[in-house]
Amino acid sequence: MNIRMLAAAATASMMMLAGCGSDSSLASPPPPASPSATFDDTMETFIKMNVGDLPPQAPPAPPPPDCNVLRCIALTFDDGPGGGTGQVLDNLRDRGAKATFFVLGELAEANPDVIRRMVAEGHQLANHSWDHDNLRSLGAAGAAEDVHRTNGVLHDISGVWPTVMRPPYGSTNDAIVASVNMPQMIWSVDPQDWKFRDSNYVANHVINNATRGDIILLHDIHGSTVSAVPAILDGLLSQGYTFVTIDQLYNYQPLEVRLHYSQYR
Ligand code: NI
Repeated sequence: MNIRMLAAAATASMMMLAGCGSDSSLASPPPPASPSATFDDTMETFIKMNVGDLPPQAPPAPPPPDCNVLRCIALTFDDGPGGGTGQVLDNLRDRGAKATFFVLGELAEANPDVIRRMVAEGHQLANHSWDHDNLRSLGAAGAAEDVHRTNGVLHDISGVWPTVMRPPYGSTNDAIVASVNMPQMIWSVDPQDWKFRDSNYVANHVINNATRGDIILLHDIHGSTVSAVPAILDGLLSQGYTFVTIDQLYNYQPLEVRLHYSQYR
């Protein structure tokens, strides 16, 4: 018997042992693939054997709401942060609602933790001047200095630069718009909550006047407004609204440096 004949005999006996005649190779056959093993399972096993356990993966971030499709509305809270701001944040969190906080630089500096909480929970931090001066009384250059000082402090606290501002009292003019050089957000629904310190009145005014794309003016420094927030949220959620930040209301498009009143004007 020469080598060639020995090899042929060995192959024949292997085929008989394996009970299959389709493979003439001498190499041991691969382990049968489990029909239930997915590619991901296989890769995970491979990585565990070769690298170790994978770090736990954070769930993917939900896509931002599309306000070209959804019935979006933007709640805005001015003049804080105040003693009730945490309660407003609790109510927003419990309903998955987002809002925008037009804060004062002076109060933000004194209450940095609640500012960081706003940002951590997905709300938008926005500029409402340093200490609520009427920007017209400061003049164009003074207004710019006031607003930019506030931007700097808000960035120092949160790591985020505000993209929009709101002039106190809605008081502004073309020269101030040009010198401040930020989009100025006014509003389209105003329950005058600074005057009507009545939670039911404030909630009903907002619910009865809200339309798609509105920007709602509220003040989280008033206890009556803080108490109205759950009814506002629940009332508008039941009408199919999605509560979004200002940036989301405009689908994160850069806004022109001018006055803005709602999603549509
Ligand atoms: Ni104000």
